[in-house]
Amino acid sequence: MNWSKLPAALAGLPDFGGRIVIDANNPIEAPRFEPAELHGRTSSEAFAELVPGARVVKAFNHLPARLISDDPQAKGGHRVLFFAGDDVHAKAAVSGLIERLGFFGIDLGSLEGGGRLVQIPGGPLPVLNLVKLG
Ligand SMILES: NC(=O)c1ccc[n+]([C@@H]2O[C@H](COP(=O)([O-])OP(=O)(O)OC[C@H]3O[C@@H](n4cnc5c(N)ncnc54)[C@H](OP(=O)(O)O)[C@@H]3O)[C@@H](O)[C@H]2O)c1
Repeated sequence: MNWSKLPAALAGLPDFGGRIVIDANNPIEAPRFEPAELHGRTSSEAFAELVPGARVVKAFNHLPARLISDDPQAKGGHRVLFFAGDDVHAKAAVSGLIERLGFFGIDLGSLEGGGRLVQIPGGPLPVLNLVKLG
């Protein structure tokens, strides 16, 4: 859903109790595509505040949906998906999911540092369609 709808959609939910939540959101939305005001945070840090108690992992956000839903095996290799987060066990689980789906996952580090690399807009990695060969 649109970034601006997230606070209302998530309001009032109970504590997530350590559940893993994958943040595939991007803080920009049609029709104007103006970046949301994040006050210096990454969008995932802002998102994490909306899901208290969750272990948030940023993933599945940097490519258009048609590529994410397409065959992850491409050009003789595995399409690359990035992920970032602060909880190593949650990241391992998401990394495993990415691999089970047939992609090649790359850990970008923390929600703050890695999340910034993959943030739309502003990060250097969005829409980079990489394939891991071999
Ligand atoms: N589209 C892409 O290529 C792409 C790729 C990577 C990341 N993203 C990011 O993913 C996010 C969603 O994008 P999208 O393209 O998937 O949007 P979308 O096609 O508009 O889908 C929105 C989804 O959110 C649901 N939804 C809307 N309002 C809701 C509410 N109040 N409570 C619960 N569910 C609600 C909708 O459910 P209903 O169908 O029932 O209305 C729909 O399943 C955005 O942040 C976008 O930047 C998109």
